[in-house]
Formats: sequence, C-alpha cells, structure tokens
Amino acid sequence: MKVTCTVKELHKLIKKMHLTPVGLVPTMGALHEGHLSLVKSAVAQCPVVVVSIYVNPTQFNDKNDLKNYPGTLDNDLALLEKVLRETDIVFTPGNKEIYPEEDKREFRFGNLDNVMEAMHRPGHFNGVAQVVNRLFEIVRPDIAIFGMKDFQQLAVIKELVRQTGNKVKIIGNPIIRENDGLAMSSRNMLLEPGIRKDASIIYKTISSASSMITGHDIPEIKSFVENSINNIPEFKVEYFDIVDDTELIPVSKQGEMKKGKRYFGCIAVRAGKIRLIDNIEIGLV
Ligand code: PAF
Repeated sequence: MKVTCTVKELHKLIKKMHLTPVGLVPTMGALHEGHLSLVKSAVAQCPVVVVSIYVNPTQFNDKNDLKNYPGTLDNDLALLEKVLRETDIVFTPGNKEIYPEEDKREFRFGNLDNVMEAMHRPGHFNGVAQVVNRLFEIVRPDIAIFGMKDFQQLAVIKELVRQTGNKVKIIGNPIIRENDGLAMSSRNMLLEPGIRKDASIIYKTISSASSMITGHDIPEIKSFVENSINNIPEFKVEYFDIVDDTELIPVSKQGEMKKGKRYFGCIAVRAGKIRLIDNIEIGLV
C-alpha cells in the first residue's frame, strides 16, 4: 500500500493505477475490526481502495470529545498493511489539505436533522457532510463504504449524495461486535474497565427489545430499554427510538410500521464520560 498526506500525490497515485472502480473507506483512525471489515469489503469489490484517516474537527460539537479522540496512526497503518494491496492508498491529510479555506457550507437534511443524533449533537451532521463531500471531491470514488453502527450518518450521506447528484454508490456494512455484543467503536478504548464490562447491557437490551415488538406496545418497549440500562450506575439512555431506515421517522405504535420498509431500534447511551450508539433491526413477523 502507498501512504500519502497530500491531495496532489493522491491524485497522481490514483491516475497512475488507472483502475476502476475506485473504492473509498473514510475513517477517523483508531481502527478496529469494524473498520477492517469495511476495508476488506472494499478490497473485494474494487481494484484500488483509498482509506482516509482524518479526524474531522467540523463534526465535533463537543471540543473535549475532539481533544480526547484517540490517535493511533502507527497502529492503524500496521493494521491496514495486513489487508491492503500494492494498488491501495492510505490518505492521511492534515486540516489544510481538507479545508484550504474555512468550509462554511450548510446542508439541510429535512427530518434527518430533527431526530436522534441531530438533536443531541447540533451541527454534527453538517460537519460530516462537509468532510464526506470534500473526500468525494478529492478521491472521486465509484463506491464508498460506511458502517451501519452510525445508522443516521449513513442515511445522511445517502441524502447528501442524492442532493448533490454524485454518482458514487453508498454501501452500508453490518455492525461488527465484540464477543459480549458491544458494537465495535473507536470510543470503546476510552471506557473505564468497569464501565466497559457493563456496556454489554446495551446490545443485550436492544436485542430483547427487538424480540418484544410482537406482544408489547412501543412505549412499553421504550420504557423497558430505558429502565434496564438506566439501572446500571453511570449509564444513562439519551434516546431509544424505532425508526425507518430512510427518513428516520420515529414510530409510536406498531400500526405505523409500513410493509416493505425496514425499521431499526436506535440508541445512544452515556456510559460514564463516553457516549455510545448502537442499533438493531426490528421487524414485525
Ligand atoms: O464515521 C466516521 O468515522 C466519520 O464520521 C467519517 C464518516 C469518517 C467522517 O469523518
């Protein structure tokens, strides 16, 4: 694999390869098996894959979160070395390459701006849209792969692509979990040991919620999720909503769930000082 931190060199490398489709896996580093599964899937589909590693400041509404975001570049490169090929490229730009000028673009995503993460992290998705759009401009990928753990982000990116008319194909890959069910996340390494142990409650609870969908009404399921998790010291549910996978409209009763649509239970939990998100498909049988 090649590693470059400049747009100029990246363009030269992509041009020299002269291969399509070009795959992009955008990351903020602190890579784990979840990221590697995205990279492996890009490698299986594209003869040239660009993995970007860039901690985008414009998507952090909480500056402390940005300050504490783990940076593990040497380890990231060692992990990528094992899965990337000669033709693949790791792009590790600095702020000036991504934002030569301040990015003042403001995106509007309709309902996607009014639910779940958008309500708890104001400005977050605008920042995600800025950087993803910029990465698309720079890399010009045919395919871009994202993890489904960031469920709302995936919906926002699909909407961004729709609005901008970009031809890139957006693929969402399944969540990769630790042995105890916790969704893999770069933030997991910041959890204190006791909290890390208890964090398996999140997946256990949303799994139970998913099987409660026949036989319990939705407010009852929501209370079950909140009570089970809030019962653990230092854990606090920010939201648990059951939404469709395109407009993310929360449903309040089973009758609102439409045939042909997919529904997911999405959760955000404060676990000590760290915020964790997860989701699970909820289907009526
Ligand atoms: O999901 C992430 O890691 C980030 O939000 C992304 C898509 C790389 C944009 O910075």
